[in-house]
Amino acid sequence: MTKIGFLACETTLPEALGGSGERRGDAFEHDLMIAAFEPAFAAQGLDLCVIDWEAPIEAFEGIALVLLGSSWNYQDKPEAFLGKLDALAANGIKVCNPPDLVRWNATKTYLRDLGDKGARTIPTLWRKAVTAEGALEAMEVFDTDRIVVKRQIGAGALGQELISKGSLPDANWNFAHAAMLQPFLPAIAEEGELSFVFIDGELSHVLRKLPAKGDYRIQSLYGGSEEVHQPTAAEAGAAAAIVAALPFSTPLYARIDMLRAEDGALMVMEAELIEPYLYPEQGPELGPRLAQAIAKRIS
Ligand SMILES: Nc1ncnc2c1ncn2[C@@H]1O[C@H](COP(=O)(O)OP(=O)(O)O)[C@@H](O)[C@H]1O
Ligand SMILES: [Mg+2]
Repeated sequence: MTKIGFLACETTLPEALGGSGERRGDAFEHDLMIAAFEPAFAAQGLDLCVIDWEAPIEAFEGIALVLLGSSWNYQDKPEAFLGKLDALAANGIKVCNPPDLVRWNATKTYLRDLGDKGARTIPTLWRKAVTAEGALEAMEVFDTDRIVVKRQIGAGALGQELISKGSLPDANWNFAHAAMLQPFLPAIAEEGELSFVFIDGELSHVLRKLPAKGDYRIQSLYGGSEEVHQPTAAEAGAAAAIVAALPFSTPLYARIDMLRAEDGALMVMEAELIEPYLYPEQGPELGPRLAQAIAKRIS
């Protein structure tokens, strides 16, 4: 059996496997991926080894390829994470997705690169920090009375702000992070966000993710829910065009998150190439597809 590493972190690992004992609210998603992947990998002669990405390099001996898995605390220590990926690659381990792609994808300015390549992106202002005045300016630029302020380096809607003209933050408010400002798009609560899961460039399955009533964030931590979505050819084509626009060779896995514009076209919200949750429950073929793609890469 060839060993395949699944990188996890102290808050997604079960305690028995070295976790801290305090699992994240969405650690069940880690469990669902492991449950789907383990048997599918075994069928391809692959032994799935779940391991904390912070484990010493010696602990990775004998592993042929690592998936970035559920290393969901990487934004807290991005330099250490990227350094570990480089070290794994230097030790001859195939890192999926590769460190240069991860580095590019870790800052949301990659969306500008995709836009330059013709991808339809959400209108965005890029700022070093944001004050109440800056928020008001964005509302004028976008001709809207609600905006979303996000970190350029962030995930899981962490630190994100929804600001409306009627309740502007007070004058001394300061969003002290490199920021991106976007118009709030009401489609998020109506149609929701569409997530397209690709394995080796092939579309595997598509989800429609909706926020809980009264919220606008689709993440499970905020009560969001998801269902299988049958994409139209145009929708699948729009998502595939994003994968094709990546300035790297085809990634082993990709999740393209999209939101509908008022004219009906899909805009890319994020290209998740680091450690996306891949929704195995909604894609029963995901495990076998991933196992086959890995077997091809290591043969
Ligand atoms: N412009 C927007 N309009 C409406 N909802 C948004 C917008 N941007 C983000 N959201 C909501 O916030 C969530 C998190 O934003 P996202 O850009 O996906 O960052 P991340 O997932 O990396 O935190 C989205 O899944 C969506 O529910
Ligand atoms: Mg997202």
